[in-house]
Amino acid sequence: MLASTSRETPTAPNHLLAGVIGKFQLDINAADGSADSKSKKLEHLQILEQRASAQMEKLSSNLEALYGGRQDVPAVLGKLLEVFIAKGLERPDELKQLDAARERDPNWFSSNKSIGGALYVDRYCGTLSNLEKEISSFKLMNVNMLHLMPTIYKTPEKDNDGGYAISDFRSVNPAIGTMDELRELFDTMRKRGISPVMDVTVNHVADEHAWAQAAKAGDPEKLGYFFAMSEAEKDEYEKHLGVIFPDIRPGNFTWNEDIGRHIWTTFMSSQWDLNYSNPKTLAAMAGELMFLLNQGAEALRLDAVPWLWKEKGTNCIERPEVQALLGVFNNMAKIAAPGTVLLSEAIREPERLKQNLGPDKCQMAYNSMTLVHMWDALTHEDASFMAEALRRHANVPEGTALLNMVRTHDDINFCFDPGSADKFGIDILERHKGLRDFYLGDNSYAKGVVFNENSKSGRLYLNGTTGSLAGVEKAIEAGDPQLADAAIRRIKLLNGVLLSVPGVPMLNLMGGDDRGQVNDYSYKDDEIQRKDSRWVNRVKRDVDFKTKSPLEVQVMGRVFDDTVDLNRVRAQEMPAFGAGPIQVIDTGKAPVLAFARENEQQKVVVLANFSQSPQKVDQEHLRAQGMTDAVIDKSGPQKDQALKIGDGIALAPFQCMWLVPADGHRPQTRTTEAATA
Ligand code: GLC
Repeated sequence: MLASTSRETPTAPNHLLAGVIGKFQLDINAADGSADSKSKKLEHLQILEQRASAQMEKLSSNLEALYGGRQDVPAVLGKLLEVFIAKGLERPDELKQLDAARERDPNWFSSNKSIGGALYVDRYCGTLSNLEKEISSFKLMNVNMLHLMPTIYKTPEKDNDGGYAISDFRSVNPAIGTMDELRELFDTMRKRGISPVMDVTVNHVADEHAWAQAAKAGDPEKLGYFFAMSEAEKDEYEKHLGVIFPDIRPGNFTWNEDIGRHIWTTFMSSQWDLNYSNPKTLAAMAGELMFLLNQGAEALRLDAVPWLWKEKGTNCIERPEVQALLGVFNNMAKIAAPGTVLLSEAIREPERLKQNLGPDKCQMAYNSMTLVHMWDALTHEDASFMAEALRRHANVPEGTALLNMVRTHDDINFCFDPGSADKFGIDILERHKGLRDFYLGDNSYAKGVVFNENSKSGRLYLNGTTGSLAGVEKAIEAGDPQLADAAIRRIKLLNGVLLSVPGVPMLNLMGGDDRGQVNDYSYKDDEIQRKDSRWVNRVKRDVDFKTKSPLEVQVMGRVFDDTVDLNRVRAQEMPAFGAGPIQVIDTGKAPVLAFARENEQQKVVVLANFSQSPQKVDQEHLRAQGMTDAVIDKSGPQKDQALKIGDGIALAPFQCMWLVPADGHRPQTRTTEAATA
């Protein structure tokens, strides 16, 4: 046991830790079991104590930020330590080994080999046992992180917000499988090098969750996990709050007859917000997170983090306490499950979503910036706005990574970077108007569906699969191979950029991104889903080629081949696409996004033409990056053919290139003011 200093009071953090460890030692020694198993437990207890000791200062300061001034802070600290140590002791041996390996390789999640995929088990293949059979296909795609969307949990049957109302973090949806099957699946995935990612709705639980049920039945302790308010108090808060789903569920509260008060429900009525000003809620949620990590989840996607802390008189978004809460969850994982990472979900402006990112908060964060700027650049055939946003925001601290995607299961909320907009004099609301005309109107290749029409903000919230937004749906309707070809090229361009900007790419398998699947309008026939057009993005996986036109089959095949090929090249040949900085290059060609990525092993220049016209990039910009004479496009079909740079590099419409020197030498940057911005 680590010695505590003699000057410490009994409530000093290290003294508290010593007390908690001492209690566990006694329990282990007093319990039944062989001497061997006891000594193994005591050995692991020592490891947990060392890790906890290294976290104590940060944990104490996080709790101070949350509950400072309260008498019971030491008790809260003691309680949390008990949860962390107990769950750390329960961790299965194979996961302890994973922890030890990852402590030696803390950036394991951010290499070029990191490629994610996200899917609904029910809509992808029906059951967990079917998913196990799909593992080879994920390996083929080089997907090594798999996010199973929350329909995997037990949820209310009807209004469950696509699984984000969770009734029990410890039960699997019986239609999909069992918790034993999930653990076995995770075991197999781990052995085959695929990290499971699971959702935790840290902001809320379903009104069917046992805590909510107990609160409804009059349990005062569980009622304290939630916000229950009188009409007057609710109105006081409501004055400052926004509305998330104006079309579906106006307001932020739901009247509950049993409790006789209004319950805070930021999202849907079935999602009851958790009250973290009550430390018992925090300890209880920590227990749920640890349960999932101990089943073998290697990353937890913490849902809707901006809303985690409420403060009267504010809009209750992104309060500073949110950072401290994420910090506590981070302390927990570093102590009990250090081989895992936290991923924060927030669809906000880049500066805001990066607040949640940090080696001591969430090591990964959703990055909607790449997504919104790519769709914007395609619309305007101009990548300058995106280039500026990348220049400002794409470089992140060591030990962290952004999670990029082309589409998610949600609407696209165009949270542009305001600083970059200012630089170009872009009026953001005007930009939204232009995007609205493009994606919802008749005069483009895209087929989008509006979401949150009743939002008074004037902003566009857009739904649609990658396939439909990139032109596949209209091309197939018209039966036009040329239009289909352009759509396929756009999808390849989006993926080419996705896989090369800093961060971990996440393939949206729930939108059929691997096959260019188009919008699924069947949600309109469903009593619950019809109110929520986000379902148009959440397609059932459909690879039944017999029912499709030859053109459709061709599109699906080409998109799949392109995706597999790009993923393979990234994972096997592009070490520079792992962690490491980006340098944006100003080529003077607005439609072309150009940047360099480099690490000790490799330097790559990426050129991406967002326009339907061919473009040429002057040789000077490649020479400034140390590229001489000839380069090879690693993402192209002729990977062995060198391109002479003397006449500049010609890009076909929507072409993306990953250029490395043909001679295989790692180039040195030539810093000329004129060539680089
Ligand atoms: C996140 C999810 C979204 C859900 C919301 C509430 O934004 O991505 O689908 O509706 O949180 O849980």
